[in-house]
Amino acid sequence: MTAQPIVQFSQASFAYNGHTALEDLTLDLHEGEFVGVIGPNGSGKTTLLKALLGLMHPVSGALQIFDCACQALRCEHRARIGYLPQKEKTDPNYPITIWEVAMMGRYGSLGLIKRPSKADREIVLDALDSVDMADLKDHPFGHLSGGEQQRVLIARALAQRPEILLLDEPTTGIDATTQRRLVELICKVHQAYRLTIVLVTHDINMISSIAETILLLKTKLYAKGPPAEILTKDVLSPVYGEEVIIAKRDQKPYIILSDEHHHA
Ligand SMILES: Nc1ncnc2c1ncn2[C@@H]1O[C@H](COP(=O)(O)OP(=O)(O)OP(=O)(O)O)[C@@H](O)[C@H]1O
Ligand SMILES: [Mg+2]
Repeated sequence: MTAQPIVQFSQASFAYNGHTALEDLTLDLHEGEFVGVIGPNGSGKTTLLKALLGLMHPVSGALQIFDCACQALRCEHRARIGYLPQKEKTDPNYPITIWEVAMMGRYGSLGLIKRPSKADREIVLDALDSVDMADLKDHPFGHLSGGEQQRVLIARALAQRPEILLLDEPTTGIDATTQRRLVELICKVHQAYRLTIVLVTHDINMISSIAETILLLKTKLYAKGPPAEILTKDVLSPVYGEEVIIAKRDQKPYIILSDEHHHA
């Protein structure tokens, strides 16, 4: 690839109070790339996204986001990065409508005092429409199901009109049909907006059917490559253990991790 990367980690390490969460990461992300991030609990996936938001600076090495060092990232840069946080329980009684949640996506470019313009309102409506939630816009956010809330939060991130979209386990805790619809939606916005997407998930099979590049993390970057290169026992076992089973489904590799096949 010849184009200049939009994100560049160079031997970057990240830590919480001296406890290393990501070590010696060297990695380029390119415009329009769809990257899936996998790895066990505590492997540094969410930390990677916090670094990409400019919220955590490397304790050694460097991280360049767009054309500046992450330490110099300003609010107008951050407005170009959309983020869907790892799911937290929302208080069902918190008095905020779907419309108001999605409008938060505009705050980065609005500033705190300015009122949303007609153009801002159109962008928000368009974002809600693309996730099929425009009809419910005046309903309380807390009354929605988990899958519907995820869709609204994706709309909030899209309303930012970001160049990079970071998604932290967007399909966790959601039924299979809704998961499939969310995945379709993510693929649709990837293509429609030529977004660079970084999606963190535990669902190896789902991500390998949609991402162009997979990152395998466990504090260090164990592997990076197209799904077909990552979905092998040799690559996955050092991270997930010898219990990894590579089965076949519709002529494609289907991964079963040890914690899953005990339940199966
Ligand atoms: N706010 C924090 N303070 C201290 N340590 C933290 C904090 N957040 C994460 N860590 C530690 O950093 C490491 C990486 O955490 P991270 O949240 O990035 O993992 P993860 O891959 O996202 O895990 P999961 O799959 O459970 O979401 C873990 O050892 C974790 O305990
Ligand atoms: Mg996480």
